[in-house]
Amino acid sequence: MYTLGINAAFHDSAAVLIKDGQIIAAAEEERFTHIKHGKRPLPFSAYEIPYHAIDYCLKTTDIHLNDIENFAYSFDPELLKKSDDSAAGASIYHDWDELFQTYIELAALQLQDGYPHHLQKRFIGASDIQKKWHYVAHHVAHAASAYYPSPFQKAAIMILDGRGEKVSTSYYLGEGNRMTELGVVCMPHSLGMLYEKITTYLGFLHSSDEYKVMALASYGNPIFMDKFMSAIHLSEDGSYQIDDFNPEEWWGPHRKKDDPFTGLHFDIAHSLQKALETSVLFLVNWLHRHTQTDNLCLAGGVALNCVLNSVIKDNSPFKQVWVQPAAGDAGTALGAALWVDVAYSNADETDRYVREMNHVYWGPSYTDDEVEAFLKWSKVPYKKLDNVARDAANILAQNKIIGWYQGRMEFGPRALGSRSILASPIEAEMQAKLNDIKDREDFRPVAPVVLEEEAGEWFDTASFSPFMLFVYPVKEDKADKIPAVRHVDGTARIQTINRNQHPLYYDLLHEFKNITGVPVLVNTSFNTRGEPIVCTPRDAIECFWTSPFDALVINSFLLEK
Ligand SMILES: [Fe+2]
Repeated sequence: MYTLGINAAFHDSAAVLIKDGQIIAAAEEERFTHIKHGKRPLPFSAYEIPYHAIDYCLKTTDIHLNDIENFAYSFDPELLKKSDDSAAGASIYHDWDELFQTYIELAALQLQDGYPHHLQKRFIGASDIQKKWHYVAHHVAHAASAYYPSPFQKAAIMILDGRGEKVSTSYYLGEGNRMTELGVVCMPHSLGMLYEKITTYLGFLHSSDEYKVMALASYGNPIFMDKFMSAIHLSEDGSYQIDDFNPEEWWGPHRKKDDPFTGLHFDIAHSLQKALETSVLFLVNWLHRHTQTDNLCLAGGVALNCVLNSVIKDNSPFKQVWVQPAAGDAGTALGAALWVDVAYSNADETDRYVREMNHVYWGPSYTDDEVEAFLKWSKVPYKKLDNVARDAANILAQNKIIGWYQGRMEFGPRALGSRSILASPIEAEMQAKLNDIKDREDFRPVAPVVLEEEAGEWFDTASFSPFMLFVYPVKEDKADKIPAVRHVDGTARIQTINRNQHPLYYDLLHEFKNITGVPVLVNTSFNTRGEPIVCTPRDAIECFWTSPFDALVINSFLLEK
């Protein structure tokens, strides 16, 4: 039974193909169209369906749109219509709410008849899609993405994002194949929206650059923490309210995009981050008392805040925390598909139906023949490597920066060794060098990948953390060996890697360790500023030849400058 999950209502449009509880393919539309996040979250773009991502999913098993038994769309327009006491803050786009809703109600027809001509092969002649169509509440989709692929048979689930239809925060209990809602917080109260508001105030792009605010926070002090906390009213039942305030009345005019950062900006970011951590910890404590389980699953855009996740992991009563790697809205395509797949399966209540998600490599890949044909056709000089891991490790050990393009592309916002730029962490200047290459702000840290079995030797309390969703302190006795990946606060947002997840990437780390004694590399995403991560060999080669890095290792081939 094929189920196709689609996220399209806001942004991070994506498609995921599921067959009987197993992920077959998953990808974000941005990788194919080169428009970051697929589109901006605006009413006028709500009709846009992630056709390229869907086409890729269908191509993976060579099926046609008519072969899909169930379509799962991660937003329920019916929930927009219900009037309740939160109606004052329920409007999403004010005058354009009806347009937004209409687009979503017509999504099945749009998918059936609106496909671009060049993709017609797998779409032409599609029929009766409306009959197979399921709208899944946005937060239910997030929650299903957090719980079903987790390692747990029973877990509490917390979802925090900007907003769904009306809900901004929600709680569930997952047991076996069932999820039960425990409570919701509705608009206009939203910790995610609060973070977005301050992101805008600090001169960044909201619904996109929140992770930059988190990085900025490390440089400040919590002097405005009380101010934030006076506006956030937390209740003992997991609910909360946030006063509507104008940051300009608190701190004066907002920072403009190219203005320099001052201590004020650092302190605002730091105070916001601390207020978020304090608030979420309070709510998580309630959730633990209420559910009496040791396991917690997280998703929603706020769960990409790896500093917050670490605070929950270290300071909450939950013993184990699992975060969906595609915690933002792209992951709702996965969650909606899983929700519908479970509902239509014959799985009984207890036996695990959905397979655990141990990696994120669900995107397109290319064979050596396909890559070499492209290299020859484009007359790009290259050579074939005898031992990809060893040869690449040698280049990295010479302090050169490489593009690393191997296997199936990652699903979710992080490059995790399939579409990565890699470098040695041994010299401190590497951080500035990489920020320069990627044209990123100076304050942005770069993150390490480490052999899973060595993680605890290099990072305090680290063991299994494959998705760059938690930070760990760099061990004091190792700090001077990997200065490039140590953030100003002494931590690093690590990825651990084992051989089952990505054999070649693992072997590369191992070879690098053999040469240098260090089982760590710097891993940053394979893209340049404002661009999505590369997808095809052509994307990789274009990025390589227009950026100042030294080599590209693509499948078995080496390109050098
Ligand atoms: Fe969301």
